[in-house]
Amino acid sequence: MCGIVGYLGNGDAYPVMIKGLKRLEYRGYDSAGVAILENGDLKLYKCKGKVADLENLVEKSSKTGGIGIGHTRWATHGVPNDVNAHPHLSGDQKLALIHNGIIENYASIKAELQSRGHIFLSDTDTEVLVHFIEDVRAKTGVPLFEAVRMALSEVHGAYAIVVIDKENPNQLIAAKKSSPLVIGIGSDDEYFIASDATPIIEYTKNVVYLEDEEVALIDRKEGLKIVTIQNQSKTPYIQALELKLEAIEKGGYDSFMLKEIHEQPRSIRDSFRGRINLQHGIIKMSGIDDHKDKWIAANRIIIVACGTSWHAGLVAEYLFEEFARIPVEVEYASEFRYRDPVIMPGDIVIAISQSGETADTLAAIELAKERGAFIFGVCNVVGSTISRATHTGAYTHAGPEIGVASTKAFTAQVTVLYQIALAVAQARQTLSQDRVTRLMAELNSVPDKVEEVLKTNAIVETIAEIYKDSRNALYLGRGYSFPVALEGALKLKEISYIHAEGYPAAEMKHGPIALIDEEMPVFVIATQGQSYEKVVSNIQEVKARKGKIIAIVTAGDKTVKELADHVIEIPKTDDSLVPIVSVIPLQLLSYHVAVMRGCNVDQPRNLAKSVTVE
Ligand code: M6R
Repeated sequence: MCGIVGYLGNGDAYPVMIKGLKRLEYRGYDSAGVAILENGDLKLYKCKGKVADLENLVEKSSKTGGIGIGHTRWATHGVPNDVNAHPHLSGDQKLALIHNGIIENYASIKAELQSRGHIFLSDTDTEVLVHFIEDVRAKTGVPLFEAVRMALSEVHGAYAIVVIDKENPNQLIAAKKSSPLVIGIGSDDEYFIASDATPIIEYTKNVVYLEDEEVALIDRKEGLKIVTIQNQSKTPYIQALELKLEAIEKGGYDSFMLKEIHEQPRSIRDSFRGRINLQHGIIKMSGIDDHKDKWIAANRIIIVACGTSWHAGLVAEYLFEEFARIPVEVEYASEFRYRDPVIMPGDIVIAISQSGETADTLAAIELAKERGAFIFGVCNVVGSTISRATHTGAYTHAGPEIGVASTKAFTAQVTVLYQIALAVAQARQTLSQDRVTRLMAELNSVPDKVEEVLKTNAIVETIAEIYKDSRNALYLGRGYSFPVALEGALKLKEISYIHAEGYPAAEMKHGPIALIDEEMPVFVIATQGQSYEKVVSNIQEVKARKGKIIAIVTAGDKTVKELADHVIEIPKTDDSLVPIVSVIPLQLLSYHVAVMRGCNVDQPRNLAKSVTVE
């Protein structure tokens, strides 16, 4: 959720932190701050707003110092303002701390500390934590590293923290539970720390991912030491970072979202490259091949996910049921985890997450695991918490997705789920080899079709111009296109703040039809296929009430063209692959509407890229 960056070394901390915070801003962007240490002087700068506002604030001040911590915030406790921004200081002003996550028992700790004279300036749980660490250190007289460990052993909740001590310019102390933290080990006794590897990438390829309930001491002279909250010593496991710098830069586009939309022909291809073998008609995925017996015997698949990933899960429901004849339930992870779900032998849980860090999805996985389910993960971020928490899985290989609105992750998720459904259908012999081979060939042609659809950009832009001032919008689809309607509506509302609803087209007459008048744009996925005639009837119903129809149709369609106010043509493909192709113009439309309305498409208000709080 929030972005964390820290530096310890012989260079200047400030430029590393500012650059790092800019890279991490997609994680949270309502306030930002840095604390820098030099010769016993602790400089603290923080403010409401973006990292650019922080830069303006710091501009004229002295900002040298070889140790520092920086933070970009997504508010949980307390409104976004200067005081609630991180870093937070201890009561004696010696410790500075940044935090990502939520300390659930902060209220009781705060009350206890207040009863002993601690005064709090902010509304945050983070300030409580730094006072608590100060308190433990004062009471026990132990070194800071030990005080952090002891304090955290009494804390409930999720955290990634970094602490510095005014009196010790040689040490950074970090810890994590349910929120990611990675340490980069540079040459020349330099250390970097961040909530993901993007700020570290240009300095070193050697990284250590902290595990849950680990506390790290980074010491200029003694190097890196890790212990668990239970005080067991751990050997740091140094891995090579595979991320490339180009992958996290805009590459000439105005926004990450636009870049990511245009990357889709490549990212879709990458998500099946090396997996489908057209010549032999087979799909090779180790997560299926190594557990074939489980997939063959599966009685039910439960899909857990949130947001766009949940929409990909809905597409997968249709795929698994049609291809592999396995009943599927698609659950919002946040609901699943708080129910008392019935998990039966033979259930397979598929968890879908772009970031691999979503707290609700992670909790749903843990619950399903406790109850004996076999868990398969579909994640984009390699090495992410969810990818490590699942029994097996498949990466989507879409490359880093920075724009808050998920685009290429969705199409890659559907592509991977498509291959899983086909592979399982083959294993269970529920589809003929001939059909599998034809669908594989069709999947192979999808990147070119997406390339074609991207050429409709100018038409989509014209449509966006016409409807950019709408207050509401309706999205309709049937069958495989129903999840696309939901996804189209989510894209529009999250980046342009226009209220939008997605519905199964036939469900419209049970309520939403009351909304239709001459002001209402209705986006309909009306491609030729199984439900085509039915969707045409739904379009007639909208037209009879003077609604405006913007239809996504199969190239060459004549019937819908006569009825609709605008059409966007997409190449013909199998019904089961339509979601990957038809979502593209809806992504473009949301992008253009948001830009025309002056919205920040990459960092829409109130949102963050990875939602690591429940
Ligand atoms: O990283 P995840 O896929 O687990 O994230 C789930 C949702 O938070 C995410 O898809 C969100 O809905 C996006 N902003 C949608 O564009």
